[in-house]
Amino acid sequence: MRHLMNPLDFSVEELDKLMLLADDIKSDPKKYSHYCDGKILATCFYEPSTRTRLSFESAMLQLGGQVLGFASADSSSAAKGESVSDTIRIISCYADICAIRHPKEGAALVAASKSLIPVINAGDGGHQHPTQTLTDLMTIHALKGSFDNITIGLCGDLKFGRTVHSLVDALVRYKNVKFVFISPDELKIPSYIKDDVLKRSGSEYEEVSRLEDVMPKLDILYMTRVQRERFFNEEDYVRLKDYYILNKEKMALAKEDMMILHPLPRVNEISVEVDNDKRAKYFEQVQYGVYIRMALILTLLELC
Ligand code: NCD
Repeated sequence: MRHLMNPLDFSVEELDKLMLLADDIKSDPKKYSHYCDGKILATCFYEPSTRTRLSFESAMLQLGGQVLGFASADSSSAAKGESVSDTIRIISCYADICAIRHPKEGAALVAASKSLIPVINAGDGGHQHPTQTLTDLMTIHALKGSFDNITIGLCGDLKFGRTVHSLVDALVRYKNVKFVFISPDELKIPSYIKDDVLKRSGSEYEEVSRLEDVMPKLDILYMTRVQRERFFNEEDYVRLKDYYILNKEKMALAKEDMMILHPLPRVNEISVEVDNDKRAKYFEQVQYGVYIRMALILTLLELC
């Protein structure tokens, strides 16, 4: 039985296969509409979510399966003090596969260690978010054709942004990917990622605080929201929340074919005027998230 905790749980070859399957689903979703007949997906979300939970549910429903679950810790027995380990044992009796989101780093791993069914990490605190990375990879692959020789700027909350951590883990495995980390001092990429991931893989990277200075060299700009829920005090959040606002003026400095991605939700960091720019791909990215989750469910249930 296989779980997904981290994008590195799949080799590059396995990721290629997954993306091929997702592409095939995209070209003919009807073909797959009964692959999960009789199967149940549980979504156990202890933290807020719109896209991740609903895209998982949409993915399972489009495969012919059914869904159950909870959307907040308050509406589950966590409110009574039940542990994640106990909850997953229970869920294992009700469902065939489970996507779990939890505010604590490592919670999905704890669940996987006790589970009788495949567990997917749908976000564990400020740590990892592998299915967002699968979505990001599929979007880049579909719109750029390859991962090699790209310069990607990651901007915003690089300290707490779990989608950034997972994406960096995944991208260092491709050829000549250059990283530009754009953040205020307080929200820099964690040193464990620099030491264990970037330096170990020999990846080229730089850290800057001004977006304008690096904009012209980027092939992809990955914007992120300042993660309010991970801050220890509101004052720091208020001071940092509008540090970056991508607007038309800044977009004028970018390459003609630069691609803007964002895991969403967007707060203020991308001005709505940018939505009409042909380089804004964050809403397309959402659609890829459904196909890749369909492919992931089929793969973990060993149905494809
Ligand atoms: C992200 C998350 O939950 O980490 N959202 C998502 O799943 N698309 C990003 C965020 O909340 O900022």
